[in-house]
Amino acid sequence: MLERYVKKILQARVYDVALETPLSEAKFMSKRLNNKVLIKREDLQPVYSFKIRGAYNKMVQLSQAERDRGVIAASAGNHAQGLAMAAKELGVKATIVMPRITPDIKVQAVKARGAKVILKGDAFGEALEHALQLVEEQGYTYVPPYDDPDVIAGQGTVGMELMHQHPDPIHAIFVPVGGGGLIAGVAAYVKYLRPDIKIIGVEAEDSACLKAALEKGRRVVLEQVGIFAEGVAVAQIGKEPFKICKEYVDQVITVTTDEICAAVKDIFEDTRGVAEPSGALSLAGLKKYVEQQGVQDSTLICINSGANTNFDRLQHIAERTELGEKREAILAVTIPEGPGSFKQFCKVIGRKRMVTEFNYRYADHQQAQIYVGIQVKPDGGDREELIQALREANYPVVDLSDNELAKLHIRHLGGGRSLIPLGEEVYRFEFPERPGALLNFLNHLGHDWNISLFHYRNHGAAYGRVLVGLQVPEGDREQVEAYLNKISYRYWRETENPAYQLFL
Ligand SMILES: Cc1ncc(COP(=O)(O)O)c(C=O)c1O
Repeated sequence: MLERYVKKILQARVYDVALETPLSEAKFMSKRLNNKVLIKREDLQPVYSFKIRGAYNKMVQLSQAERDRGVIAASAGNHAQGLAMAAKELGVKATIVMPRITPDIKVQAVKARGAKVILKGDAFGEALEHALQLVEEQGYTYVPPYDDPDVIAGQGTVGMELMHQHPDPIHAIFVPVGGGGLIAGVAAYVKYLRPDIKIIGVEAEDSACLKAALEKGRRVVLEQVGIFAEGVAVAQIGKEPFKICKEYVDQVITVTTDEICAAVKDIFEDTRGVAEPSGALSLAGLKKYVEQQGVQDSTLICINSGANTNFDRLQHIAERTELGEKREAILAVTIPEGPGSFKQFCKVIGRKRMVTEFNYRYADHQQAQIYVGIQVKPDGGDREELIQALREANYPVVDLSDNELAKLHIRHLGGGRSLIPLGEEVYRFEFPERPGALLNFLNHLGHDWNISLFHYRNHGAAYGRVLVGLQVPEGDREQVEAYLNKISYRYWRETENPAYQLFL
């Protein structure tokens, strides 16, 4: 199988439109991790992602009759841009079906390349269904984003370039995984030539379809798919990529949203380039691998696969970066209520640490609650030391650094506690973000229960995130949750969450 793929990769036509991108050393990261870290700059392609390679290679292999019928694809963005550019170059009519969550920057880029855009559904699956229906009805030629040998061969040219750009030893190559086209192509080429190099897939922890498939030994469909890194938000690994991955991928690492955000910053600091979340995924995985395996003095390569992100998303990314880097501790601290006690607390934190956030709220005559963000050093248990120091000074502390409710909502919420008992149940919701989504959400929520708390903030992220308190009469909780299950927004009950209990 490898030899067949290597031949296809060597014959792939990509350089009519794609560039051989640089493999640059990330000097800061190398120093920090005690390894040589190299970044393959696929963000510098004319469509700002590697996807042009597979799309173009597939398109040039089509017969004239197939081209004449026009091509169609379903894509959350980057394949769409690749296909639109390839179609324009070859004079073929292109239609792209995109889910409505697609960042506007990608929609506009596809339109600018002359393709027709149809926005359909909230997730990739619905867009795909519509595209396949149009293939039936209109006879368009379907160009798949990853599950196709010619697409895989096009993406495999990234691996081919790496092999001649870095003939010296390489410990591992880190590859972002969506449907698996890129990793399959890279693995096929690299393992054929230099089987000692580890191929490590990196997935967002809430869309880890390759990891799930490797664990089960067969392709599985994920029930829920996180869309923060929308370029890799795929529920099932491709059939053809999986044949290669199950033999030649050494390991899969999953990373959190915060870790991805931190990697966006790292890439910026080393290259001054802004990666999209899927593009920074591989560096997030590389960092985690070094932390877990303690690898030193080795050469590690990560593929920055794309840079198509909306500018307003950077706000959200920047906010979560410190947490992803474990440079910020979010703590709930109870201090005595009374003159001088706030100052005393600040003294315990000391002058050496930067306070990033401070919210103080009178709780009762005896106590006050403080929501505090404090900068800590990422390594060496600094956060634990800080918490220990506070506890030794007799302050009760709850560590909220990994508490989504605290990070997403509490830090932005004014209002504090209600003076009267409310009989409140609190739920946190996520829904695909797009204009009108909030109103839609409210319409779905109905008015059977009084809303006692509401927080929504547009993070420029793919999700809309809402915290809602509902006044639920005793015994009605099951009824509320049966209703919430019906409206099918992802939600979490947060009534018992310490961040809610302490601050609201
Ligand atoms: C920026 C970016 N990185 C990685 C991927 C994952 O590629 P694949 O679906 O071939 O695994 C995609 C897919 O669209 C992408 O857009």
